[in-house]
Amino acid sequence: MNLLDGKLVSAKIKEDIKVETAAFTAKSGRKPHLVAILVGNDGGSETYVASKMRNCELVGFESTNIRYSTDITEEELIAKIREINADSSIDGLIVQLPLPKHIDPDKITEAIDYRKDVDGFHPINLGRMQRNLPCFIPATPYGIMLMLEHYGIETAGKKAVVVGRSNIVGSPMSILLARNSNPGNCTVTLTHSRTENLKGEVLAADIVVAAIGRKNFVTAEMVKEGAVVIDVGINRETSSETKSGYKLYGDVDFEAVSQKASWITPVPGGVGLMTIIGLLKNTLEAAKGTIYEK
Ligand code: GUN
Repeated sequence: MNLLDGKLVSAKIKEDIKVETAAFTAKSGRKPHLVAILVGNDGGSETYVASKMRNCELVGFESTNIRYSTDITEEELIAKIREINADSSIDGLIVQLPLPKHIDPDKITEAIDYRKDVDGFHPINLGRMQRNLPCFIPATPYGIMLMLEHYGIETAGKKAVVVGRSNIVGSPMSILLARNSNPGNCTVTLTHSRTENLKGEVLAADIVVAAIGRKNFVTAEMVKEGAVVIDVGINRETSSETKSGYKLYGDVDFEAVSQKASWITPVPGGVGLMTIIGLLKNTLEAAKGTIYEK
């Protein structure tokens, strides 16, 4: 088993982003600027947004975290998004998901100017991604593709099985793996809650992407000898063993599956760190205006 080491790859790419950011700032006289809106105080979302903000600062971006309590209305949130869309000092905007039930995430996603949509969730970016056109690619799938690229994992002609069809990970991941690009060119099966014989599907995979949000869902009996296994799960459980008071578990039973996999991502230290890289790269591109002209 070889480790797909998110710590190592993200640190390396972060250094490149730092250098590029310094050059951008020297030339333009301003830093790339990311705004993150967080509604409510979901523990996971708090942690992710804090990490995004911290990493922005680390590479030399300006970052702003706007917080609202859960009683903000959809209209108020959309009004704030429109204000940010019109503010030329802001390059990227993300609204952390999930949102409270009274706010429609699709409406929020579509309210964001697609040229500032560094999450890559807007239908224009998703459509352009599917067509292989320049666009913002959702951060987690983007980070996974960078990881596969870094380790030179062969994808062309391989059978990839994605477990979970979320808008954030599973669905865009299936598109990226199937695209005519490198990495890419896989034969992709997107599995979900209604898939029959899920175990059989996963067993046939050369590349497995587990993004279902259930602790240790993918077991050793489901994985082919020599498969590449990407674990997107970040399942938090309270724990007295850690300083933070919680422990993270992936969607893959790492201990058992790592005995069969040729390559595997750990949790933590795998995909989560690469997601940050995807977001930072998108934000830098937004500031530079290389994907959409400013
Ligand atoms: N919630 C879980 N992952 C993400 C992400 O990549 N972006 C946003 N905005 N919310 C998320």
